[in-house]
Amino acid sequence: MNIAIASDHGGFELKEKLKQYFQTKSIPLQDLGTNTPDSVDYPDFAKKMAHYILDGKADLGILICGTGIGASITANRFKGIRAALLYSTYSAQMAKKHNNANILVFGGRTMSFEDVINRIETFLNTSFEGGRHTNRINKIDED
Ligand code: RB5
Repeated sequence: MNIAIASDHGGFELKEKLKQYFQTKSIPLQDLGTNTPDSVDYPDFAKKMAHYILDGKADLGILICGTGIGASITANRFKGIRAALLYSTYSAQMAKKHNNANILVFGGRTMSFEDVINRIETFLNTSFEGGRHTNRINKIDED
């Protein structure tokens, strides 16, 4: 599975920690920036991630801003993107089981590193249920 990661300055520190963590697990992460803690605009990075996923360059995106809210709002404007703001272990499980999310969103200023790791691992260890949930997912992009 190809995983990409991106953040604004509010998520930069968490992004760098996650990169180190995935490196120790020998799981490659494609880093789409930002590359410094300097102030940037979260829509630029959320849009970059949405295009990256829609272009098939990664199977899953991890997107971080200060709260995860701006990044979620922006990414979910794109048809075919299902960006889930994972605020608990249960939401991480359901984001895969029912929503088959393709971008996981976190808040660098609102969530601990340990909680984020736990939510990512929970998501990766869960399967999409399909069936009625496939129909519901398809409805998201209708009209
Ligand atoms: C940047 O200060 C902050 O607004 C941004 O990271 C994010 O939290 C927006 O939703």
